[in-house]
Amino acid sequence: MPPVKVLENIFWVGVVDWNIRHFHGFTYSTQRGTTYNAYLIVDKKVALVDTVAHSFSDEMIQKIKEVIDPSKIDYIIANHVESDHSGSIKEILKLAPNATIVGTANCKAGLEKHYFGNWKFQTVKTGDTLNLGKRTLTFLEAQMLHWPDTMFTYIEKDALLLSNDGFGQHLASSKRFDDEVDQNILMWEAAKYYANILWLYSSVVLRKLEEVQKLGLKIDMIAPSHGVIWRKDPMKIVKSYLKWAQGGADKKVMIVYDTMWESTEKMAKAMLEGIANEGVEVKLCRLPFSDEGDIIGELLETKGLLVGSSTINNGVLPSAAPFLREMEGLRPKNKLAAAFGSYGWGGGATATIEKSLKSAGMELVSPALTVKWVPDETELQKCYEFGQEFAKKIKAS
Ligand code: FEO
Repeated sequence: MPPVKVLENIFWVGVVDWNIRHFHGFTYSTQRGTTYNAYLIVDKKVALVDTVAHSFSDEMIQKIKEVIDPSKIDYIIANHVESDHSGSIKEILKLAPNATIVGTANCKAGLEKHYFGNWKFQTVKTGDTLNLGKRTLTFLEAQMLHWPDTMFTYIEKDALLLSNDGFGQHLASSKRFDDEVDQNILMWEAAKYYANILWLYSSVVLRKLEEVQKLGLKIDMIAPSHGVIWRKDPMKIVKSYLKWAQGGADKKVMIVYDTMWESTEKMAKAMLEGIANEGVEVKLCRLPFSDEGDIIGELLETKGLLVGSSTINNGVLPSAAPFLREMEGLRPKNKLAAAFGSYGWGGGATATIEKSLKSAGMELVSPALTVKWVPDETELQKCYEFGQEFAKKIKAS
């Protein structure tokens, strides 16, 4: 695919990774692939904003060559150290040995520890600028969105925010702009991305959005480092980030569970009936058949979570443990939750689930419901009522 003109003398020189199916190890499924976006700004001075994963270096360099001779690159703006964006810096420096890398102090330290290079580096902080000729870059530190080194680059002339991971989506496409792709798929991938990568940093997201508002930055376009560029309505994704960061969710329920001999599943289905009969939308997700990254993505806009597991070895089934660990790590805001599960003798699964949900910062609205061995009719009725009561709390929230 050739370079794509984003604006006059600003080109997308990134790559599309059609085949990646897992990100950050195996924690985040990327069924729709992704892109690594790099942007080339051609002015009196030439700047390359971010690079691509190392295995795609040649493809990016070929695109740059279709615009300019890479030796003319004066600056490599490193908005983020993570190797999906910095992985080709070394290759670019072979072609542009005099280029200066520009980034935060944390970026400098991070790049040195990743690549062990003795590179020319210009350290910048919020408010610092770099004049390229007709355009001036302004830098805005975005620490912990999602690494300590992260920053945004802003171009006032174009009201363009180069936001690196922020506002990204893991969405491979031959299209480069938001108005060229299916809107439902786009917003789903943006939400899944937020939930899986940025959810833990929601308070930082809120502070950063406030800071941008106070600075009065006009934003007509947001060009992230993954997925498509927001040009039609960049405020659409900004408003979504505000909602997600504030913990805004719909009055829906997800029941996430696994079962050994179907007793916990019978409980889950009885609860589902109780919730549905209260008029509340509810979804059943059995681990490990449901994709964990998708569950986390859907949970972003879901108010209630019921987690169930049979007991094994005084704890939860091994399939439930990674989901609970992710919840503890991501700490979703403003969720109502409860636990349930069957056991044979000692029990222990629901205590483990409750401990994790509390540690994740969720509000436990009912004591856990447990059933010994197989639920009988009376116990299934209790499960149904448990679901009904949970649904009422969701409606009242
Ligand atoms: Fe897309 Fe934090 O790297």
